[in-house]
Amino acid sequence: MDKQNFSKEIKNKFIQLFNSNPLLVISPGRVNLIGEHTDYNNGFVLPAAIDKAIYFAVSLRNDDKCVLYSFDMEEQHESNLNALTKSPMSWVNYLLGVADQLIKAGYKIKGFNCVFGGNIPIGAGLSSSAAIEAGLAFALNDLNSLNIDKLELVKLAQKAENEFVGLQCGIMDQYINIFGIDGNALLIDCKSLEYSYYPFHFNDVSIALFNTGVTHALASSEYNKRRAECNEGIKIIRKKYAEVASLRDVSVSIISEFESLMDAVIYKRCKYVIEENARVLSACKALEAGDLNKLGALLYESHNGLQNDYEISCDESDFLVGLAKNEKSIYGARQMGGGFGGCTINIITKKDLAETSQRIKTLYDNKFNHKLKIYITNISGGTRIIE
Ligand code: GLA
Repeated sequence: MDKQNFSKEIKNKFIQLFNSNPLLVISPGRVNLIGEHTDYNNGFVLPAAIDKAIYFAVSLRNDDKCVLYSFDMEEQHESNLNALTKSPMSWVNYLLGVADQLIKAGYKIKGFNCVFGGNIPIGAGLSSSAAIEAGLAFALNDLNSLNIDKLELVKLAQKAENEFVGLQCGIMDQYINIFGIDGNALLIDCKSLEYSYYPFHFNDVSIALFNTGVTHALASSEYNKRRAECNEGIKIIRKKYAEVASLRDVSVSIISEFESLMDAVIYKRCKYVIEENARVLSACKALEAGDLNKLGALLYESHNGLQNDYEISCDESDFLVGLAKNEKSIYGARQMGGGFGGCTINIITKKDLAETSQRIKTLYDNKFNHKLKIYITNISGGTRIIE
């Protein structure tokens, strides 16, 4: 279904259920060119919003109820703003978490009706959860005339995930969701929370996502574990360098002093993060120079770090990145997102796209039990009102 049809379907469903006219909002998924697991270490990331999105139809009610309808799951849930509790229906928590944060931050919000759905594949590392959180935060801000600024909305949506959903995610996904603009990647400095745009204007290349089809149940526990391991590393570094607040403040030469002073695993985790931060800044330079070979090489290095040092890849994503390296039409590839599956991101020449991806798909499908899904994405704008 394309964009126009999605918003029409969501709106029609809303009118059918609630018999009133909603505000319509589009909230995109994201890719991350480079900078993985650096956000919660106060580092750099380089994501971009894409043309796969969640569509929202929302209106206010005259009572304190929130009536939520998932278009994709065909499920409805009702709760009261005065007694928000975690639901066993997991999709509900991404929405209630936002209402909960608004209330905790002292904003007066009314009850609301909400229908949402879209085409961001779940568990593929394209951040459907941040799209749900930030999309609803945006809609409720508008409908209740709360005048919350964009960065506050980002923080609020992130906190909804940290506190209500229970994943200690960093700020990248919610940030790019709100701040994304058409045709541009966004460099976010997760320490200062400043940002700058880097145009991704290459007419003859596409961003292709290869979905491994693997969504490890492990992902959230291992994610929180990686955070803890990085913090462990910082504690040891601070014994010698008290001024260090996060891995962002540690250089490649400083971390190398700790090789024999740290557990080997903790050392690898820290080294990966520090090197990945440097790669993000190099990637920005490569984008400015239009140097796709350099950008591609950085993506491969990033995957290498994810596979061997941060240890969050999986056989399927390693296999896909391995195949990409043998393809002349692919500049670079790496696993993207939280880890243990999801999609690999591939920078690939447009003219070879169909042939190359078919070749890779055949090899993948023959080797694994799940079939490779391929998405071609365009860099698009952040969360906004439609119509
Ligand atoms: C998930 C989190 C982000 C980020 C990435 C890894 O997408 O939501 O905050 O940490 O994993 O880079």
